[in-house]
Amino acid sequence: MRVLGIETSCDDTGVAVYDTDRGLLSHCLASQVEIHALYGGVVPELAARDHVKLLMPLVEKALKDAKTQAEEIDGVAFTAGPGLSGALLVGASLGRSLAWAWDVPALGVHHMEGHLLAPMLEDVAPSFPFVALLVSGGHSLLVDVLDVGRYSLLGGTVDDAVGEAFDKTAKLLGLGYPGGPAIAKAAANGHPGRWTFPRPMTDRPGLDFSFSGLKTFTRNTVPPGDLDAQTVADIACGFQEAAVDTLVIKCRRALDQTGRKRLVIAGGVGANVLLRERLKEMTEASGREVFYPRPQFCTDNGAMIAYAGSVRLAAGERQALDFSVRPRWRLTELPPIGGVRA
Ligand code: KG4
Ligand code: ZN
Repeated sequence: MRVLGIETSCDDTGVAVYDTDRGLLSHCLASQVEIHALYGGVVPELAARDHVKLLMPLVEKALKDAKTQAEEIDGVAFTAGPGLSGALLVGASLGRSLAWAWDVPALGVHHMEGHLLAPMLEDVAPSFPFVALLVSGGHSLLVDVLDVGRYSLLGGTVDDAVGEAFDKTAKLLGLGYPGGPAIAKAAANGHPGRWTFPRPMTDRPGLDFSFSGLKTFTRNTVPPGDLDAQTVADIACGFQEAAVDTLVIKCRRALDQTGRKRLVIAGGVGANVLLRERLKEMTEASGREVFYPRPQFCTDNGAMIAYAGSVRLAAGERQALDFSVRPRWRLTELPPIGGVRA
């Protein structure tokens, strides 16, 4: 089965073609970073308008790159939520319309399920069951994954998502948007010991996160007046160490609690090199394995939506013509593979 996947939940326009026999045939991405960087964050209305402009040419390019004619597409998958409603509607409307015009089934994909299954696109893919750490701009989740659609939530954030904390801290430091890569870059020149940030909620049992305190700690740490480059680097370094350490502690605890041997990292923050290194060390030291997508499939992309859609479409799941997007949609509301959707 050959599936066209469309992602437009936030500020990246992604399109890909995935074939269940031959694997990923193409993937294209257009980033809107430059537009939103002017405002220091994503402006929903501008994101939706830009998706309108970028999406159709990207669909044509993805088909061309995959050497695929429209008649060879067997299904269309699009991100139906969670995300920005205007942005989601652009991808969903086009995806559903193309499927109707081509007379093939369509399916609305859960964005976080896309992230969660992204490591399946790699040569060495994890087998079920595993624990997944999903860390993006809007989510910080620890999930016990038995199979596609069989998810139990182990922990979530009580305030900011970890990506959000990276973005807000970067803003306080006068670094660019998005904050994650900017913090990581600045931290490379920093001294880890100059400031010791807290490791929130690690001193008590449980798997929930809280990241807003790290941002507050930064605000209280930043000296008044102009910041010199070394101070920015040192704060970025202290922040990154604390955020990564906190995630590693909670991942170890989640593996201990569930007895799982495999850990999957996905979502934009999963591109963070320090996090990848530290999780590798932790899992190897305890006889476990960690799996992550290549960095470009950690952040938003069409390939993960094409893949997740292909798994469910191949199992017979279908989206009715009268669909709507779901800006708020819990991962645990998804049915097991092949099941009926609420
Ligand atoms: O998954 P994603 O592309 O979009 C959402 O679904 O939110 O994640 C974006 C988030 C942003 O907060 C961004 O700052 C963060 O991922 N991010 C990173 C890195 N690259 C992206 N955070 C830390 N280190 C990175 N290298
Ligand atoms: Zn995402």
